[in-house]
Amino acid sequence: MKVRITFSVVLVTTLIAGVVAFAQIPGMTPPKHYAWSDKTLSPDARADMVIKELTLDEKIQFLHGLGWNAMFMPPESGPGTRAISAGGFIPGVPRLGIPDLQMTDSVEGVSGAGDKGRYATALPSAEAMAAAWDPALSYEIGTLLGHEMRAMGFNMSLGSGINMIREPRDGRTFEYKGEDPLLAGTLAGQELKAEKALHLITDLKHYAVNDQDAGRIVVNSIIGKRAMRESDLLAFQIALKDSGAGAFMCSYNRINGIYACENPYTLGVLKNDFGFKGFVVSDWGGTQSTVNAALAGLDIEMPGNDSFGEPLKKAVEAGQVPMDRLNDMVHRILRTEFDSGIVDDPPHPDSPNVMQGFKVAQKTEEHGAVLLKNEGNVLPLSAASIQSIAVIGGHADVGVLSGGGSSQVSPAGGNAVPPPPELLKNPLASFMLVEVYHRSAPLKSMQEKAPHAMVQFDPGTDPASAAALAKKSQVAVVFAVQHASEGMDLANLSLPGNQDALIEAVAAANPHTIVVLETGGAVIMPWLDKVAAVVEAWYPGIRGGQAIANLLFGDVNPSGRLPLTFPRSEADLPHPIHLAPPKPDAEHPVPKLAGAPGMIGMAMGIGPFFDVHYDEGLKVGYKWYDAENKAVLFPFGFGLSYTTFAYSGLTVAPGDSPIASFTVKNTGKRAGIETAQVYASLPDAAGEPPKRLVGWTKVELAPGESKQVSIPVSRDRLTIFDEASDSWKLTPGEYTLRVGGSSRDLPLQKTITY
Ligand code: BGC
Repeated sequence: MKVRITFSVVLVTTLIAGVVAFAQIPGMTPPKHYAWSDKTLSPDARADMVIKELTLDEKIQFLHGLGWNAMFMPPESGPGTRAISAGGFIPGVPRLGIPDLQMTDSVEGVSGAGDKGRYATALPSAEAMAAAWDPALSYEIGTLLGHEMRAMGFNMSLGSGINMIREPRDGRTFEYKGEDPLLAGTLAGQELKAEKALHLITDLKHYAVNDQDAGRIVVNSIIGKRAMRESDLLAFQIALKDSGAGAFMCSYNRINGIYACENPYTLGVLKNDFGFKGFVVSDWGGTQSTVNAALAGLDIEMPGNDSFGEPLKKAVEAGQVPMDRLNDMVHRILRTEFDSGIVDDPPHPDSPNVMQGFKVAQKTEEHGAVLLKNEGNVLPLSAASIQSIAVIGGHADVGVLSGGGSSQVSPAGGNAVPPPPELLKNPLASFMLVEVYHRSAPLKSMQEKAPHAMVQFDPGTDPASAAALAKKSQVAVVFAVQHASEGMDLANLSLPGNQDALIEAVAAANPHTIVVLETGGAVIMPWLDKVAAVVEAWYPGIRGGQAIANLLFGDVNPSGRLPLTFPRSEADLPHPIHLAPPKPDAEHPVPKLAGAPGMIGMAMGIGPFFDVHYDEGLKVGYKWYDAENKAVLFPFGFGLSYTTFAYSGLTVAPGDSPIASFTVKNTGKRAGIETAQVYASLPDAAGEPPKRLVGWTKVELAPGESKQVSIPVSRDRLTIFDEASDSWKLTPGEYTLRVGGSSRDLPLQKTITY
């Protein structure tokens, strides 16, 4: 009896507590039935029913976001870490059961978790994800992100970023998925498809041609329509088609003279040609007008400006923005809320599955790290026979580097490398200046692999001391780091500080020098001929140390492939000189922009307006080096393995969508994964760069094993954009399909005619 009473008391108390807690969670009202609760109705019908009930003020409220405290927090609030993130918030309409929109950045983990004082998995950078060339892994990443976002009460994600790498010094290269629209679009598509399946609103950004961060709010990207449609916009088109993304974030920059968030061309292409039914949200502080933006297609203004809100209400009342357009804006938001499932299945706060996060983070790094050089098979290291290892530089004794800005995931346990106290006085410290190291020390993981070996660390600050340690060790592993962040571009593609000199000194002391790079993107390697091996580890995430050790010791056979070209020098880039806002003078004043100019200006490098002419046009990344016949350091699609692969027997089944079939054989002694790539060369009359990626597949092979693979090539990937008719066309003539293991190693080819 006593047990029963106690049980009932506990049950009732729990129920009451549950109801109270439920009611206290912002945006979560206890479920109630409304006419639009009927899930059998279409999202559009449900949205229209709600709109009929809304007052003008409620409609306006949907269109003006709040949030973004990060930029305005005093520096002490983030003691060396990015404690808070730039999340976003749109109040819902509780009386109608419409939830708040709770947004978080989620490019490489749920960066908004820090806002809530919560743990989130710090994944490797988006560039590392892209280097895995693995749509299934991207889906797994999306699933992890989706679960963690929901566990923290978020119902809208602010990722993925898929700007094309036209400017490799862009400080956000690490947030993007490389230089090819098919690769970036496909991978982002799978990631967001997985998030949507878990009932989140997903978002693609930064639309569009926001390919550098220096002066991002004053830069004007000048680019032809065809170039845009076939590269930058195509990535978005593919990702949207594959994912059904609910939102697009328009970018800060101007495109051909008009701000992206009020650009009738790019927003028109999105809503008309791509058939996008969701809503366009401005980047934070990226709205520069009321009427123009609303009429061009912007639906939600996020914080930093006040162009929507009251000004929009006035514009509607004055008839400058028709009521139909206002209703369309609200309709797009509501139909997306129903379509994504956030109304019917709101998130319930929960604990993130930390171990699952570790698993996905480690797998991503193990599949995304790229082995660039391995002379004399110095790698993998033999755990059984190695006697001494010098581990040098890059704070490898305590952690692995990550990239800064809105995508920064708070480091679990705090920053492994506390920043200098003077830096914290800078108001932008926690947003972008502090270099955050996640606590996953490669040194420790390497020592665990080879418990009998002498594994010693030198910080690498003094090349002579590092060289001395290298000299008395069997191998030297130098960790070289390059911090990058949103809000600032890299000065150049060289490793910062004394790291080139350090590597030279270590390599001179020990011929078995292995360089592990933790960089945001491509770097120049003046020492390449002198070192034995190079591994590009990108920003490796919370299990980076373990993943790197697994790769170095051969527990994992490297399979990553470059999603962007590594040039030999900056002189070889389409734009050898990187443009930033010019110095202000009488002719070039600093413009008065809408929004909170102080902090935004600082973070975005405000200055006089300036133009960047993307006159390389269609020739983005490898297409540039191919067209210009330039040698590169490492080509797009390249990556070594501890085994070798051979290709043979290409046949192409012609047809609307041709199918390339061929055999891949593992010709080495270890199991490995090859990324078989198919490129197409179009007829001369198409006026295209020499080739474009049209398909790929990953093939896992045991030693000696052969597999026949078939890669269908979508006809869409063979067309070009014809500006005159504003449509895609297939040029009649000969198409050569080229097959192999990188963009510059394509042993098989077959020609078909259309
Ligand atoms: C970034 C966006 C981000 C937003 C919200 C902006 O500074 O450009 O990528 O989603 O902040 O954090």
